[in-house]
Amino acid sequence: MRVAAFSDLTGPDGVSITNQPRPDPGRGEAVVTVEACAINRHDLWILEGDSAMVDADDLPFVSGLDVTGTVDAVGEGVTAVEPGDRVVLCPNETCGTCRYCREGPENRCENFSLYHGGLAEAARVQADRLVRLPDGLDTVDAAALPTAYVTALHMLRRIEAGPGDLVFVPGVTGGVGVAAVQLADVLGAHSVGTSSSRAKLSRVESLGLDHAIESTDPDEIRAVVSDLGPVDGVLNHLGGAYTQVGLDVLRRGGRMAICGRTAGGTSEIDVPDLFLGHKRVIGSTMGTQGDLERLVGLVADGAFTPEIDETYPLEETGAAFAAMQDRESVGKLVVTPYSNN
Ligand SMILES: NC(=O)c1ccc[n+]([C@@H]2O[C@H](COP(=O)([O-])OP(=O)(O)OC[C@H]3O[C@@H](n4cnc5c(N)ncnc54)[C@H](OP(=O)(O)O)[C@@H]3O)[C@@H](O)[C@H]2O)c1
Ligand SMILES: [Zn+2]
Repeated sequence: MRVAAFSDLTGPDGVSITNQPRPDPGRGEAVVTVEACAINRHDLWILEGDSAMVDADDLPFVSGLDVTGTVDAVGEGVTAVEPGDRVVLCPNETCGTCRYCREGPENRCENFSLYHGGLAEAARVQADRLVRLPDGLDTVDAAALPTAYVTALHMLRRIEAGPGDLVFVPGVTGGVGVAAVQLADVLGAHSVGTSSSRAKLSRVESLGLDHAIESTDPDEIRAVVSDLGPVDGVLNHLGGAYTQVGLDVLRRGGRMAICGRTAGGTSEIDVPDLFLGHKRVIGSTMGTQGDLERLVGLVADGAFTPEIDETYPLEETGAAFAAMQDRESVGKLVVTPYSNN
């Protein structure tokens, strides 16, 4: 089978299309013919050599978390799915024995890791991590859900976003940002978000963004958001200087969830403002398989449609990463390994 492997950790040029033996399922596993796999900034960090998870010794490396497709074969002991089922993978890998695996939520597992391997024509996965897709739910749309939408939903739950709340999303045009806007809308909350691009903001406004701020300047953003009034929650995937901006605009007792570091892995914060304002900062990573199941149900019910910017055949995987690196896209970029056969 063909795979889009990272053969150098030098950015999009480091992607090579190569052949690998098609996998066989072991006990408890399934092999899925991959119809779609969304890419995430997590994959781009790896490809740019900016992830502690993968180094030169691990090459070639096949990334790709967000697998959807059709079950091709199952191993011994698998009853949850059977060949022919259309599925989406929850990429959480958990130990099953620690306190958080026993008591939940599973994404706090002490040995938490993620599945990689979806940028290929077939993927060997844990069968009990597969969620069946209802008829009519497109595999490309479903591929958007496991990382970006699950992370955004989990963060909105952590900040307890509810009807009428105002949620601030710095960097609102990417995978997590657009998901936050659409899901805030589903919850009855309002959103305010930022981008460097007026054209991209217009697209996100058409998806439900209530207040758009075309700026990357923390002082300007702070002033414009403050004019709207104190926000109830912040969904921060940028880190860096945006963390203090988020705290500045947050109401007393408000909550900010952080899941990323695109604008910087360290943030200086005003400590007295934090404690005098009774504000809460919450770290959040991915979500639960239950979150993914809920999202599949919401899409099937027509509550929202995942925003797909572009699909790419497997051999153009490098171009998909270049589009992400160049900040060209709105929503998700999806590689379609099988449809290209
Ligand atoms: N912890 C977790 O479980 C988890 C899960 C998912 C994602 N994440 C993290 O969340 C972040 C977003 O992921 P994603 O897949 O949604 O990425 P993405 O689609 O590439 O996000 C693009 C967004 O980031 C903004 N952006 C890009 N570079 C920027 C910079 N240097 N300064 C300010 N804004 C910048 C873009 O703004 P413009 O509109 O101006 O281009 C756009 O709004 C990443 O850090 C990722 O690692 C974490
Ligand atoms: Zn565990």
